[in-house]
Amino acid sequence: MNITMIGAGYVGLVSGACLADFGHRVTCVDLDQSKIDALHAGKMPIYEPGLAELVSANVAAGRLHFSIDLAAGARDAEAIFIAVGTPSRRGDGHADLTYVYQAARDIAAIATRPLVIVTKSTVPVGTGDEVERIFREDAPGVDVQVVSNPEFLREGAAIGDFKRPDRIVIGSEDPRAQGVMREIYRPLYLNQSPILFTGRRTAELTKYAANAFLATKITFINEIADLCEAVGADVKDVARGIGLDNRIGPKFLNAGPGYGGSCFPKDTLALLKTADDNASPMRIVEAVVAVNDSRKRAMGRKILQTLGDEPRGKRVGLLGLTFKPDTDDMRDAPSLAIVQSLLDAGVEVRAYDPEGIEAARALMPDVEYCDSAYAVADGAHAVALITEWNAFRALDLKALGERMTEKRLIDLRNVYDPTEVRRLGFDYVGVGRD
Ligand code: UDX
Repeated sequence: MNITMIGAGYVGLVSGACLADFGHRVTCVDLDQSKIDALHAGKMPIYEPGLAELVSANVAAGRLHFSIDLAAGARDAEAIFIAVGTPSRRGDGHADLTYVYQAARDIAAIATRPLVIVTKSTVPVGTGDEVERIFREDAPGVDVQVVSNPEFLREGAAIGDFKRPDRIVIGSEDPRAQGVMREIYRPLYLNQSPILFTGRRTAELTKYAANAFLATKITFINEIADLCEAVGADVKDVARGIGLDNRIGPKFLNAGPGYGGSCFPKDTLALLKTADDNASPMRIVEAVVAVNDSRKRAMGRKILQTLGDEPRGKRVGLLGLTFKPDTDDMRDAPSLAIVQSLLDAGVEVRAYDPEGIEAARALMPDVEYCDSAYAVADGAHAVALITEWNAFRALDLKALGERMTEKRLIDLRNVYDPTEVRRLGFDYVGVGRD
């Protein structure tokens, strides 16, 4: 199958490389010449485990190509995926669809043969209808089917998620489009990954419902963690106790500093906008957004409280800045709010992150960046773990403590064993447990 992927960003690049790995011929088209040049030179624009290897293997096999020229890249395409960005629109929180519609117009301008257009970008309900209208107007007479096929990729685990998905959702009622999509995902079909064919609007909404539900699950356990602290219970045990119920499930019940990233914050807001536009309020999701926002700042206060009455002039070391491990992504990371509240209180902040320092430096110039986890402890009155990178799980805490002025560990991801940490002479503060 000949496939064109418009957008060589996170979703486009991962999806394009994986589809090439399934045996399809894929051309990733992006307007950004420097990105395409870098990809031709084997350099990845993002950090994602396994991506560079997957790209280079499929380029070498002649299945994966990069281009800035849509007309050339899409000449023989049977399916064209739209995987461009849909940032939050300033002001109203709705997804900005400029890039999606522009991609549709660009394709319509060159469309002559039957095509299946697949929206991979996360788009509000009804976007597929609008894309279809663009083709009807700009490419009348050409058989174009518009399909919604949302992605459910997690950063840091995106390749595994693409190749071994829990499910594939395909929004199209057209038999030809369904046949093309079935062919594209045939290797997964053989792997027995469930493929769900739905209406297009249903597929669009399914993506938002999934992310809003997961954001709710996290926020729920975070509030339970607060209550655990108030009543002297342990949130890890509560999470296990409820998670073993099959109806609840054990995943996404890790209490922490609040969710961040490129999806949950943006998608929950966009869902609220859709709900509002359709006079069908989602009060649960409204509460989730508000609770998560205030939680990030509350985590800054939690660290400050350990420093006593006069935090001004004290030094805090931060382990991890990205919104989660195995990514260099700082978008909506809880660390941004935490650092701000520390700086506002006059605290000196030093930080280390395995991949995120470059992005963090641009957003938080007043932080002193260190070149190792141990260096953040030098002269510190407290060290706080914000992102649970594996490298931090195996730290030599004794060595860390020896570099500190006062031995305090605030573990915002509950990765350390409180008894063990206290045995080493630290004051230990976790989330939702003693
Ligand atoms: C998410 C969805 O998982 C994915 O299906 C969708 O396509 C895009 O959004 P991603 O943002 O990459 O993926 O990360 P994810 O692993 O889901 O984590 C999101 C945020 O929730 C992170 O800030 C993470 O730290 C937080 N989280 C997650 C928790 O605080 N506790 C948990 O138990 C799980």
